[in-house]
Amino acid sequence: MSINIAIDGPAGAGKSTIAKLVAKKLGFVYVDTGAMYRAMGIYFMKKGISPDDEASIGKACGDVDISIVYEDGVQQVFLNRENVTGLLRTEDAGKMASAVSGYLSVREKLVELQQKLAASENVVMDGRDIGTVVLPKADLKVYLTASVETRAKRRFLELTEKGIPCNIKEIEKDIEERDYRDMHRENSPLRRAEDAVYLDSSDMDINQVAEEILEKLKSKEG
Ligand code: DC
Repeated sequence: MSINIAIDGPAGAGKSTIAKLVAKKLGFVYVDTGAMYRAMGIYFMKKGISPDDEASIGKACGDVDISIVYEDGVQQVFLNRENVTGLLRTEDAGKMASAVSGYLSVREKLVELQQKLAASENVVMDGRDIGTVVLPKADLKVYLTASVETRAKRRFLELTEKGIPCNIKEIEKDIEERDYRDMHRENSPLRRAEDAVYLDSSDMDINQVAEEILEKLKSKEG
């Protein structure tokens, strides 16, 4: 039986950085489920399908093949056999992913893929519904969050480092809107699973959070 760790939380809480680090320390596979929603979003964008057009999205889901391959331990996402990993982290892909991730047709397709991956490998999987829907029997569930101000500051620094002009107030507004959409949608809204460990990373560094997760896993296994 494979060991599964589920990490959920809002955008910008540090989930992917921490999940990656924990996976590396444990020798587990890191599965970024947001990347899969982003790849689906890119497909609909390429096809010119509006995020409001649920019927066309439902139909188009049948034509999308998403697969995940690991190269040197790094997740590569293939969309109909094309490696789209480099296109996933744009603001547009994020917005489209957030919009289409509310549809059942999109979620059913990706949840199945995620469950298959977790059944065959020891994984640290991050997303919004991992502990509540995808892996309800995960060995450890973590709900990782941070204040809106902290998350906006982190995003601001990340973009500024890349030389991308941005405005902190706009970033805060975007984060609040994304949180609202993710938490209030009908299908699999972001929420803390009852048995998830709650961690607020606002005043913790990456290593502290990773250590805390490893400790919790040890005490569960113990
Ligand atoms: O974590 P991220 O920013 O890459 O995720 C992009 C969008 O995908 C996010 O707004 C919500 C959605 N998502 C989801 O609904 N369920 C998941 N398990 C992961 C992401």
